[in-house]
Amino acid sequence: MSGKKLFFILFLCVILTSCQNTHKEEQKASIRIGISLYRGDDTFINNICSVVEEKAKEYERENGIKVILDIQDAKGNQNTQNNQVERFISLDCDVLCINPVDRMDASVIIDRAMTAEVPVVFFNRQPVEEDMNRWDRLYYIGVDAKETAVFQGKMIVDLYQKRPEAVDRNGDGVVSYVILEGETSHQDSLIRTEWSIQTLKNGGVPIEKIAGGIANWERSQASALMEQWIHAYPDTIELVVSNNDDMALGAIDALERAGIDGMNVVGIDGTTPGLEALENGKLLGTVSANKEIYGSAIMELAASCALEKELPEEYPLENGTYYWTPQEILIHED
Ligand code: BGC
Repeated sequence: MSGKKLFFILFLCVILTSCQNTHKEEQKASIRIGISLYRGDDTFINNICSVVEEKAKEYERENGIKVILDIQDAKGNQNTQNNQVERFISLDCDVLCINPVDRMDASVIIDRAMTAEVPVVFFNRQPVEEDMNRWDRLYYIGVDAKETAVFQGKMIVDLYQKRPEAVDRNGDGVVSYVILEGETSHQDSLIRTEWSIQTLKNGGVPIEKIAGGIANWERSQASALMEQWIHAYPDTIELVVSNNDDMALGAIDALERAGIDGMNVVGIDGTTPGLEALENGKLLGTVSANKEIYGSAIMELAASCALEKELPEEYPLENGTYYWTPQEILIHED
């Protein structure tokens, strides 16, 4: 065969292969998303996850691309989560959506994802900045913790300015409060605690802390703490500030058991049971993250990563990495 002919055949092969590749990319008929939850029994996470499932179906209908969601529960164990990531990678997931168990220890997940070149969308439990800066295909979706806290404080400040007697219920010039905190290592607990109290102070509400404790986001733990405080400080507490709705509901459970009515309890999240308690007036107010947008952002960002497409404009990323979900104050109206 002459050199010219050989060159022509090789040239043809190159063209054909590249056409085939383009054809293959255009034809990506399905995407596989591996999702690992820090705890499947967490109310807020459950709410978000249900929206992601809905949005995945919507995405399929609207784009004609099959979306395979593989949702796993790490049950509070980082090793379990690391194994789930390993499995997702071996199953050729196009993208991972990770709600880390230990947000300070996302490095194993990041190492694996980087080696396998699978992008990661973290959500709700924010890995430390140093980890997030390791690769430009790592993203985070959450709510701005300081904004949440300021909104929570503002709820009480506004009420105090309008009707001080509704907040300083015994009229002694001081609002005696207790505070229920989430996990110590969670960015949201630390920032929410600090800024909701600071906002009350800045807003001129004369507050006095009676007690505070860590209930790890859990209703039953919060209920036990509140029960202790009701006994230790009878007829003293006027306000319960909670880092989330589930713990606020735990406090309400304890108040109901003690036969105490009409206490001001404020939460955060706007979970399904939280909104129900708000509706029937057991919860005075909450700061609700927009779950529709939260879940859509996870789905849209994951799909964009999987298909190597630009993220839709309605989800602007701060520093190309962080998306902050909008939230709003919801207060019970009599
Ligand atoms: C939510 C909590 C939830 C926690 C889980 C927080 O942002 O407010 O309700 O338990 O995230 O990581």
